[in-house]
Amino acid sequence: MKNILDYAPIKEYIRNISNMYRLGYDERNGGNVSMILNKDELKEYLDFKVIRVIPINFDATELAGEVFVVTGTGKYFKNVEYDPERNIGIVRISKDGKNAELLWGFNDGGKFTSEFPAHLMSHIARRKINPNNKVVMHCHPANIIAMTITHSLDEKEFTKTIWRTNTECIVVFPEGLGVLPWELCGTPKIGMDTAEKMKDYRVVIWAIHGVFACGETLDEAFGLIETVEKTCEIYNLCNGKEILNTITDEQLYSLAKFWNLENLIKPGWLDI
Ligand code: 13P
Ligand code: ZN
Repeated sequence: MKNILDYAPIKEYIRNISNMYRLGYDERNGGNVSMILNKDELKEYLDFKVIRVIPINFDATELAGEVFVVTGTGKYFKNVEYDPERNIGIVRISKDGKNAELLWGFNDGGKFTSEFPAHLMSHIARRKINPNNKVVMHCHPANIIAMTITHSLDEKEFTKTIWRTNTECIVVFPEGLGVLPWELCGTPKIGMDTAEKMKDYRVVIWAIHGVFACGETLDEAFGLIETVEKTCEIYNLCNGKEILNTITDEQLYSLAKFWNLENLIKPGWLDI
């Protein structure tokens, strides 16, 4: 049996987590990442013996049999690369959808992130839109959080400010940004609200907390987050100063049209 830590997707997963830590997106145990793994490829690396069964406290039948790599609750992103077997785990969703069967990792008796319901519900929602979706990523970037303190949380208003602040945004997320008001995290309720937003958006902002994003790949989910975070930083640098220049709705439309994305823009969001 080959070493799971030599499996390219796991290496990339760990590399991403270290990068997120170094960017300051994940202080202490902040943030969590889940990714669906390819079961056939995994056979070379895992014997699929169940180490422990951990209840997930909601019905994830739609994901029964799927295998995820996921970060541990209370675990620090900065430690993942040095001790992956303690800080991350590989779990399979049980046939009845009620449990996670631990196949590898969490070797100190730990378990998956407290946001696992939000992750699994988001995976369920996104796979209905895009069957190739594999990744859900949550983190706490400072500029996104800051902007949710000073800006309206209306989705159209928030998205349009972001689109107008950085040229590439409308091309990277033409569908816009979902925004949730502050809610108690770690609960099924915030999971359901996030998943509901994920029907329309790949990025969902959690006010005064952070961001959830999804994608077919780690790059897609991370790329969405870094683009939003950088744009929020620009917004925060300019906020309170006199704004002399912006991108007009006509210009936003021309960008979307140039990249054949105009049909993804919600009706009525651009005044053209
Ligand atoms: P976990 O340590 O349970 O992953 O929680 C971190 C977090 O970001 C909660 O929203
Ligand atoms: Zn969080």
